Amino acid sequence: MRPKVATLVFHPALLGCFWFILAAARDLSVEITGTDTGDCTTPCRTLDYAIRQLSSGDRIKVGVGTFAGSSNRNLSPGDLGKANFSIEGYQTDLTIFDVERAGRFMYLDAAAGDILIQKLTVRNGACSALPDDRNGAGFKLVQSPAKLRDIHIRDMDCSFEETLPREFNGGGLYLVDSMASVQRMRITDSVGNHGAGVATWGADVSIIEDSIFERLQGLKWGGALLTEENSHTEFHRCRFSHCYSTYGGGLDDGGLASPLIADCVFDHGTALHGSAYYGYGLSSTRFRNVIFQNGHASSSAALYLTATVSPSFANITVVNNTANVDVAGVRSFVSSILFKNSRFIDNRVPSSGADGAIQANAGGLVLEDCLFEGNGPAEPGGTVGITETGLKFECLKS
Ligand SMILES: *[C@@H]1O[C@H](CO)[C@@H](O)[C@H](O)[C@H]1NC(C)=O
Ligand SMILES: *[C@@H]1O[C@H](CO)[C@@H](O)[C@H](O)[C@H]1NC(C)=O
Ligand SMILES: *[C@@H]1O[C@H](CO)[C@@H](O)[C@H](O)[C@H]1NC(C)=O
Repeated sequence: MRPKVATLVFHPALLGCFWFILAAARDLSVEITGTDTGDCTTPCRTLDYAIRQLSSGDRIKVGVGTFAGSSNRNLSPGDLGKANFSIEGYQTDLTIFDVERAGRFMYLDAAAGDILIQKLTVRNGACSALPDDRNGAGFKLVQSPAKLRDIHIRDMDCSFEETLPREFNGGGLYLVDSMASVQRMRITDSVGNHGAGVATWGADVSIIEDSIFERLQGLKWGGALLTEENSHTEFHRCRFSHCYSTYGGGLDDGGLASPLIADCVFDHGTALHGSAYYGYGLSSTRFRNVIFQNGHASSSAALYLTATVSPSFANITVVNNTANVDVAGVRSFVSSILFKNSRFIDNRVPSSGADGAIQANAGGLVLEDCLFEGNGPAEPGGTVGITETGLKFECLKS
């Protein structure tokens, strides 16, 4: 044993190791009954104070109660040199951070490193109270690998009377160039100009799974979601219900965005155009195994595709949607659009001369292994309409 002890004392690399073992991760705590003194190994009162006490690897446990006031909001650990820690509430519905309409809950960036936040509720964020970059009233993540689990974000307000394309987006969650992992998030009862639930920008590649988006209103475009620029954000097993926007009750995209929407359901969306989805810009959104149901567009379609988009659709079901004007299911201005292995069922428009399932007017519509059933009006051509002449209409194995 003796030679080993001597090595430890004289070898700087091993000394470093030895120090690391001594600096073990600690549990800090925040409780309604705590006080902001000491190092939070006995309960403190506010999250800001606890974050200032932590070292990398520490865990902050937050108890039951509603935590409000200026030391429980507008938190930015990276700016304090704090990184690589976790925050865990007692239970999602019992540990509540109330932002009191005075800004956002938390900003996380690359400097904050590997963060895990779980089991808490955030409510009453307001973008208009932010000094600049008025996006993300719940969380704003920039170049962040954060993990968010079992978080409920509700009653966010990211609305503004003017249309500023890059502001007042992402009521609950604003993701820029991030690689975050979000699981079992619920974002509900919120309003924003664009994407009252989530907005994604830059080269975002975050993954959002098993999450619920309900009763979200996008006053300008994108009720639940806005995806922009080069976002390749993925949404797996998510449900979007009762969301509204003028353009895209569930999702509006733009730029070169190519999000993946897989195994998701859009239910009871409403819009002027696109009660579930409004495709815009040079986006190429990927839809796999998605159900679009029970939507209503005051003008046209559950899925509204402007001329320059190139979305892909595989195994989608467009069912029981209504619209007042052109078409209930899909309105496409795209030069060639392919639906693979998809179903169009019981989509209805009241007026004659309109189409139940699909209306395409700028070229090819390719249907591979598709089913049409119960769409109306039932007059000839009322299911699928091609509104310009001389254009290609292929129906393969329909
Ligand atoms: C956080 O972790 C990352 C990656 O493990 C590391 O590069 C960084 O230095 C850590 N930051 C701090 C403040 O400990
Ligand atoms: C098609 O999507 C539905 C959900 O919309 C899913 O239940 C089914 O498994 C998918 N089929 C294939 C072959 O992926
Ligand atoms: C069809 O949609 C309407 C309006 O959203 C709804 O009331 C009705 O229950 C839906 N029908 C089915 C079979 O889901």
